[in-house]
Amino acid sequence: MTTDAARRVAVLKGGRSLERQVSLRSGARVEDALGRLGHEVVPIDVGLDLIQQLRDVRPDVAFIAMHGRDGEHGTVQELLEILDIPYTGSGVLGCVRATDKVLAKHLMIEAGIPTPDFFAFNETAFRELGAAEALAAIEERLEFPIVVKPSSQGSALGIKFARSAADLPAALVAAFSYDSKVVLERHVDGRDLAVSILADEPLPVVEAVPQGDEFYDFQARYEIGRTSFICPAELPEGATERAQDLALRVYRLLGCHAFARVDLMLDGSGELTVLEANPIPGLTETSLLPQAAEAVGITFDQLVGRILELAEDGNRGLAPPDPRGTLAG
Ligand SMILES: Nc1ncnc2c1ncn2[C@@H]1O[C@H](COP(=O)(O)OP(=O)(O)O)[C@@H](O)[C@H]1O
Ligand SMILES: [Mg+2]
Repeated sequence: MTTDAARRVAVLKGGRSLERQVSLRSGARVEDALGRLGHEVVPIDVGLDLIQQLRDVRPDVAFIAMHGRDGEHGTVQELLEILDIPYTGSGVLGCVRATDKVLAKHLMIEAGIPTPDFFAFNETAFRELGAAEALAAIEERLEFPIVVKPSSQGSALGIKFARSAADLPAALVAAFSYDSKVVLERHVDGRDLAVSILADEPLPVVEAVPQGDEFYDFQARYEIGRTSFICPAELPEGATERAQDLALRVYRLLGCHAFARVDLMLDGSGELTVLEANPIPGLTETSLLPQAAEAVGITFDQLVGRILELAEDGNRGLAPPDPRGTLAG
């Protein structure tokens, strides 16, 4: 396939994730852009007939416009590997690493990348190992407020700030309703930043400023006008470069490909910490990656075109080993 040729592109969107509605909006916008770029677009609302549809459509490439479970966690990527269909974004391994906050945070610590202090538990630790008894020690180490969040979720779903010991049980229950693994994290009093990476290059920093909300929550994120975004963010001297450098290191560390968005906090003393990385950040009208691209003159259509081209790089993460490899070779 050459980069100029029109392709048949299956746009995978929707799915059963809690971020389904966001994905439908990302998908619709991507479809419009691909159409304007001259590609043949086949929208697929991902469900039980995914494999059948892909076999019928036989796309040249799949554009994954899914967020959250299935689409972003590596599952759809795995299926596309099996069907041998090139796809946009990170491979299986990058998705698996990035969407598991506990794994990503351990990898960051190992690599010397600052991330807020934390403890993480499975539900079974509470049910079968009496982890509740350790909560007081955790409180002492992290200090209130403590941020409680599901390990694998997005869009601030299930995230609560516990202000005192009395808030913790409900916050844990809420987080466990989203995931069997939960992170208790030190609260960072600071500014909410995001650095998107496109083709291994960091884009300008976006600052999300919630309008009167306690924090940047699910509604604020997608309702136009409830969060204001500043891009490029006006930061203290050197902070932009440091944030971009950290974001690129995290992107590489986790094995992301083509694009991703890294969320960070900048505290009052100027220290940056990385919260997480998103292998398939939103592509809606209010999403941060398109805004950051726009700030350096990359239109949405160009962004989508670039992401599509990068799908052909062959960075699929881990290809499953050929079981006959050793015998045949
Ligand atoms: N440790 C923290 N300190 C302060 N705010 C936090 C912290 N963790 C999360 N937040 C707030 O919650 C938002 C979502 O958290 P994040 O870790 O990025 O999860 P996700 O975006 O996957 O839901 C952040 O953008 C930030 O506003
Ligand atoms: Mg985030």
